Amino acid sequence: MSPFHIIRTLPEDATDAALRADVRRGLTATPKWLPPKWFYDAHGSELFERITELPEYYPTRAEREILADRAAEIAAVTGARTLVELGSGSSEKTRYLLDALTDLDTYVPVDVSESALTQAGQALIAERPALTVHALIADFTARLTLPDTPGPRLVAFLGGTIGNLLPAERAAFLASVRALLAPGDSLLLGTDLVKDERVLVAAYDDAAGVTAAFDKNVLAVVNRELGADFDEDAFDHVALWDARNEWIEMRLRSRTAQTVKVPALDLAVDFAAGEELRTEVSAKFRQEGVRAELAAAGLETTDWWTDRAGRFALSASTAR
Ligand code: SAH
Ligand code: TRP
Repeated sequence: MSPFHIIRTLPEDATDAALRADVRRGLTATPKWLPPKWFYDAHGSELFERITELPEYYPTRAEREILADRAAEIAAVTGARTLVELGSGSSEKTRYLLDALTDLDTYVPVDVSESALTQAGQALIAERPALTVHALIADFTARLTLPDTPGPRLVAFLGGTIGNLLPAERAAFLASVRALLAPGDSLLLGTDLVKDERVLVAAYDDAAGVTAAFDKNVLAVVNRELGADFDEDAFDHVALWDARNEWIEMRLRSRTAQTVKVPALDLAVDFAAGEELRTEVSAKFRQEGVRAELAAAGLETTDWWTDRAGRFALSASTAR
């Protein structure tokens, strides 16, 4: 079998301290919010995989179509020997890149979800005996230290996950990615595009309720990790299109007036009936905006590919 290393760059207690700090800050703020990276425990990662298969959730299929059509071209323009993937999840779509990159030596999936990394890594090494997989349990918004592997490097950030960062966070994130790139390295970025509001809202509020369960999973994480007593049934999942910011905003709306206890923080949190807790944004982009944000981080867009229906884009960029 080929080498598979999994390295935790986040100590367990740092994760715990970060969760406590985030939950305290978010639940005592007005309006209340919780940061999205806490969605992805093992159950959250599983629910996300189910989202990718929903009829309403088009981004995964659209991005897969681009990868299927363009992987050879992407491989030719990047010539990567190391593929680093941020927020790699199941690494399912990544297989198109792994197949097309003929000189590839090492794959470095980076994710906060240990269960997703372990499953994806084990499946990959069984399929591809020649590939070295060097998985990193890490937060891609913190400073990343990458293993010393052969260049050129391709850093992939797929799934439209960049849209889950707020504009200022995106700017900081892109600058930190820029700092990882040596001459000859590239970034492959997946961005979901602005489109009809009904299509967007349905993608984040599916008929089967999988997205609602995913959104509420963050409450289950806070219950388990901090001993809180959130009742998932006492909240409704809400997805709305914010036309000014061009993002989908996900919220959990309290059905009644209630008090939630968070013993590990010695905190009691009052919710008014109808009060909303913001859980996540998913920004949608236009080509000019993506180019401008990349340029502001010192990255020059060299290629722009969309699916045939123009719903989703992949762009390649290099350090200027
Ligand atoms: N790339 C996959 C998964 C997208 S879902 C796809 O396109 O289908 C987003 C992924 O990013 C999840 O696997 C989640 O665990 C991971 N993630 C979210 N926030 C993160 C963070 N701050 N640092 C590292 N990984 C993160
Ligand atoms: N990166 C995904 C997206 O923005 C994450 C996601 C999909 C998500 N559905 C969600 C996050 C529902 C929270 C709730 O499309």
